[in-house]
Amino acid sequence: MELLDLSPGLVVVDGTVGAGGHARAIARAIRPGGHLIGLDRDSEILACARAALAEAAEDAPEQVRVSLHHVPFSRVQDALHAEGQAACDRLLLDIGVSSLQLDSAVRGFSFMADGPLDMRMDPTGPVDAASWLAEVDEVELARVLFEYGDERYSRRIARAVVEQRKRTAIVRTGQLVDLIYRAMPGHARSGRIHPATRSFQAIRMAVNDELGELQRALEAAVSCVRPGGRICVISFHSAEDRIVKWFLREHCEVVTKKPIVASDEEVRQNPRSRSAKLRCGIVKEIAA
Ligand SMILES: C[S@@+](CC[C@H](N)C(=O)[O-])C[C@H]1O[C@@H](n2cnc3c(N)ncnc32)[C@H](O)[C@@H]1O
Repeated sequence: MELLDLSPGLVVVDGTVGAGGHARAIARAIRPGGHLIGLDRDSEILACARAALAEAAEDAPEQVRVSLHHVPFSRVQDALHAEGQAACDRLLLDIGVSSLQLDSAVRGFSFMADGPLDMRMDPTGPVDAASWLAEVDEVELARVLFEYGDERYSRRIARAVVEQRKRTAIVRTGQLVDLIYRAMPGHARSGRIHPATRSFQAIRMAVNDELGELQRALEAAVSCVRPGGRICVISFHSAEDRIVKWFLREHCEVVTKKPIVASDEEVRQNPRSRSAKLRCGIVKEIAA
């Protein structure tokens, strides 16, 4: 909230409105006269955000305009256009999956509970993880597991997937967990993290084209955040953080020379914050 540097009347895009935690705090800080535009590619989550924000606005609904859109954040310009705003003053992205998505077995993000192998952040999206795994080339799968998941047994796992799918379709998270476990050498099966953690993260990032989304959103941000406005991004993966870091260096005055990370106390309270990195930049004025 400090880095966003909010004041009454600002137009703020929360590109990942999720359950509305950040959005509620933003809505309070920009009233009176502000406009909060919340985006999420998950329509189910957007319903939660709507309820949370309605509750937050109860005491003073006329003081802040809140609009929610079911669009990916790479289409931030479409949302601004639909709202009659030429640009915004602040853009916040808190990328990745939400706890609500991770904890719901039917969404297929979790290796902890058996469910359909879905992993689409937008449940209306065209390709789920099961269809992606059924089609993906072995070399490409190994690359995805290695680059997005830092999985050192990427080739063995990719081979196992290709062998398995010749026999039966891989359509449940439980099937994929077993397959990954069996593909790993014995000593790698009992590490500090669950053996399927890295592969699940990598497949989710590929199915949802997460790096492409981030890249396109930042490119769009150059023309839709006003000069002097701020961009804040929280990422959870080193490849994402690298994209953000280079983008801010090129287009912004960087406010966070080093990324802000969660304190030990915060990680104790919320273990999922352990890999979060927050960076912020002020969009450069265009030279005359
Ligand atoms: C970590 S959660 C955000 C939580 C939120 N900041 C809060 O305070 O409750 C990430 C959210 O971003 C959404 N999301 C991820 N990638 C997206 C994208 N490309 N476009 C729009 N929403 C996206 C997910 O559906 C999820 O709801």
